[in-house]
Formats: sequence, C-alpha cells, structure tokens
Amino acid sequence: MQKKWWKESVVYQIYPRSFMDSNGDGIGDLQGIISKLDYLKTLGVDVIWLSPVYKSPNDDNGYDISNYQDIMDEFGTLKDWEELLAGLHTRGMKLMMDLVVNHSSDEHAWFIESRKSKDNPYRDYYIWRDGKENKEPNNWSSFFSGSAWQYDETTDQYYLHLFSKKQPDLNWENKTVRKEVYDMMTWWLDKGIDGFRMDVINLISKVEGLPDGPGEGRYEWGGEHFMNGPRVHEFLQEMNKEVLSKYDIITVGESPGATIEDAVQYANNQYTELNMIFTFEHMDIDSGEGGKWDLKPFELTAFKEVMSKWQIGLNGKGWNSLYLNNHDQPRIVSRFGNDKEYRVESAKMLGTFLHMLQGTPYIYQGEEIGMTNVKFDLEDYNDIEIKNMYREAVIEGGENLDKVMEAIYAKGRDNARTPVQWDSTENGGFTTGTPWLKLNPNYQKINVEQALADENSVFYYYQKLIKLRKQYEIIVYGDYQLILEDDKQVYAYTRTLGEETLLVITNFSGEKPTFILPTNLPFETKDLLISNYKTEETEDIASIELQPYEARVYLLK
Ligand code: NOJ
Repeated sequence: MQKKWWKESVVYQIYPRSFMDSNGDGIGDLQGIISKLDYLKTLGVDVIWLSPVYKSPNDDNGYDISNYQDIMDEFGTLKDWEELLAGLHTRGMKLMMDLVVNHSSDEHAWFIESRKSKDNPYRDYYIWRDGKENKEPNNWSSFFSGSAWQYDETTDQYYLHLFSKKQPDLNWENKTVRKEVYDMMTWWLDKGIDGFRMDVINLISKVEGLPDGPGEGRYEWGGEHFMNGPRVHEFLQEMNKEVLSKYDIITVGESPGATIEDAVQYANNQYTELNMIFTFEHMDIDSGEGGKWDLKPFELTAFKEVMSKWQIGLNGKGWNSLYLNNHDQPRIVSRFGNDKEYRVESAKMLGTFLHMLQGTPYIYQGEEIGMTNVKFDLEDYNDIEIKNMYREAVIEGGENLDKVMEAIYAKGRDNARTPVQWDSTENGGFTTGTPWLKLNPNYQKINVEQALADENSVFYYYQKLIKLRKQYEIIVYGDYQLILEDDKQVYAYTRTLGEETLLVITNFSGEKPTFILPTNLPFETKDLLISNYKTEETEDIASIELQPYEARVYLLK
C-alpha cells in the first residue's frame, strides 16, 4: 500500500460559527480560532478542516457562498485568515478549506447577473428551465424539503436548487464555470492551503434532460439523476489535471449515495480524482425508508456489516475517511453511545472504534470532550433543514408534533452546532455576548477546562488515540478483519500487518457481555495499547467479561 502523509494524519473539523467568538458579537470568528491553536496542538491533530468562512448571506450558515475569494464579515478579514494559516503552519498543522461548488448563493454576482435575462452572459452558469404545464420542470425534491426548483418571474423560468432556494446549482456542463472554479481553487492553493473538503461534489453532474424521479407525488427523490452523475468522473479528472495534481494536498469529497464501486473510482490509487470521499451508509444505519427523519433503532450487526464492507472494499484500492460526527450529524455519544451514566466511557469507546479502523480519522469540534445532543424549544433552532422539514411535516402536512420533535432531537443538525463549551462561565466561555445559537445547558459540567484538568477525560484519551497512530504503522496501514460477526453487543476486529495483529475490542452496550477470543488468533506476547477502564496487563484475554462500553486495543505478536 502506498504511504501518504494524509493517510497518517488526523483531521479536526472546525465549524467556525460555533467554535470561539473573540469580539462578543455572539458568532465564532477567525481570531477566536487563532486563540485556540495551542489547544488543538495539545490535542495533537495534524489537519484542520475549516467549514466555509467565505462571504455568505448565511441562509445555510456559509454553505451558500456569495464571494468565493473573500471572508465573511462576522468571521474577520483575509488578513485574519492569513494569520490563521500562518499560526497553523508554525505549529506544524495544515489547513483544509471547504469548497462549495455544486451551488453558490443566489447573492453571488454570477447569479445576480444570471437571473437578469435569458441572454445574459452568466445565464448558463446556472440551470434554468421552462416550467411544465404550470408546474416545475421536473419532480425533484430538494434536500431541504419541497421542490428543487424555484420560479423566477423576471424571465418566467425556473432554476434548480438541490438545497435551499438561496443555493442555486451551478451548471458544470458549462466549461467557463469549470474554469472559474479551477482558477478560484488555484488562488487559494497559491496562498498556501493544504487541501480541500469538497461539499456534495458527487452531485455536480446531472443526467441530460433532467428526467423525473420515480414516483407519483408532486416532489419525488430524483437522486439517481444527479448523484454520481454521468460526467462526474470526467469533471473531477479535469479538476485534478488542471489544479489538484499540481500540489501535494489532501482532498476529500463529500459523496452522498456513493457505492464502493464509485468510491474506488473517486479515490483511486493513481490519484486521478480525489484522495478519499465521505460516505453515508454508516450514518443512515438508524434511518428508516422515509430518510433521515424516519427514526430506526441502531443495530450493531447491521452497522458491522456496513463498516466491514467499506473497510474490505477499499483495502488496497482506495482510502476510507473515518467519521462519526460532523456539523450535519447529531453527537455520536448521544446517538450510538450513552450520554448519561456512561458518557465518558462510551465516548472513549466510540473514539477507539473509529481511530483503530483503516482510513483517515476526522474529529468534529467538541467530540474530543464528549459533547452531547440538545433538546431545544422549536423557536431556539436555527437550521434551515430543521425549519423547512418542520414546515412541510407539521404545518403543511399535519404530522404529529411530538413525533417530529423527537426526530429533531435525534437527528437535527443543530445538535452539532451548539457552541463549543470551553469552561463553566456564562455561555461556556464561547462568547461574552448573546450566542447565535444557545449552548447546551450541560456546559457547566462538560467543558474543555474540566477536561484538561481531569487526566481521565475524553480529551486525554483522544490525545492518546492520535499519538498511537503516529507510533504504530499497523493502525494506519493494517488490513481489517471482522471477528465475532454475529455478536449483538461487541464489535471486535483485527488489523494485520506483517507478523503483527492489532486486536480491537469495543462493547457497544451498557451491559457486561463476555468476549471470547477466536481460537484462530494465536500469539506469544500481547501489549495493551489503550483501554477505557483500568485493566491488568497480565489478564488472560481468552475470555473477558467486558464492562459497559468498554474498549481495549492489544498488539499481539
Ligand atoms: C453538505 C454540507 O455538509 C451541509 O452542511 C450543507 O447544508 C449542504 N452540503 C449544502 O451545501
């Protein structure tokens, strides 16, 4: 397997709006991040992925960009950004920027021009169509509920927006659009950034003719006509040739609906497209057929199946990104762990599980201190996805309010977006003003200051997980194999490299199941590399009664 620095790295995601506010306006900013760089260095992460900081009207908190080459006023200036980049580089860390080019904001100069007239030179930068019999051009629904089309009176046509109506999709069929994007990317790379996380990059190519999605409803899921579309690999290869291949960088493409076959192409070993992609199958594990808001209980065996499929499917052919949290996902300790009596244990267990897999691990801000989900009153939520879903389900659809609220508590994106809890002072030390989104009320108990003062905290455990990756090649490059496939409580797997075996045992339950070591795993010596309970080094591991949410990693020789 080819060795690469980005395979050996750990990435930490910052959602700037919620990270740290330096000027008391209630919104996180670049100087706030700069003030926490030593903290990130102490944690030991290698790369920072910065969610969008560009100019934006914030319909979708920065994922709607009105100027790709400038910084949002609330966050600071380009000069602040340069200071951030330098601060990271001086400390030996790298910076990965978010690239959001499936769509722009409707307030981007290109779109302002585009909507003016059918013969405007920018018209074809976006996807405009006539309506059909006084209805939308096709039946596609938006990721954020309702139609994916917005009617525009000026020219009596509709434009496509797979996300909010303030996020019109760019027309990648247009060569000039592609060139503009590549020039913009080059501009950032020449400033010295170290890579891109690419927002929904596998949606950029739409099937010709934009055919209807299957189904009889007015709005239907048209995903098969725009996920991993016909020209997506051609576009990414062009982007790679024109831009990416000229730099030694890290690239990860967010790719909903990608299969292993797709991934092997996106993240191929010749690196003609990207380094890795973010997939979603493991995050859909607790969703029913109705999608993310249709709650379904977590089943460990189903989760094992998905994870193992990706671990084995990409082994030697591509590269996995490993994540359980990000700004779109609920907090993992509340989701697959236990955020009450076993919060610390289960947060450590989930971290162990993830960091010992093959791939590049991503940590999302607050994960390293075991931050949890929230339950807000409806009016305290900010997220457009939540608001649109609520409107469609409850106000227009008459669905049961309690059921919808349960879904928001479990899956709402604001779970991840409450401000980082730095200490136990007002607003968790995040801001001296009024925070743009309320804090999780548990900040007095769960916060960075507390974690740094407690040697048994989730923070120091994560620090150790990161260190281990630097010490043991097997953690980065070893082959994965699932053991005890049918166990409903214990997720155990091995990694092998040369003569060595790494044994990872994680208990996903609050009970005390027994782990029985398979007989085909002989060894002479064993080293306990990390565990979340006190464990005797000499303990016989042929059979272990595990503690609730226990995790152990052994190196067997
Ligand atoms: C995926 C991003 O992660 C999410 O936050 C955003 O709302 C959509 N793409 C649209 O940009």
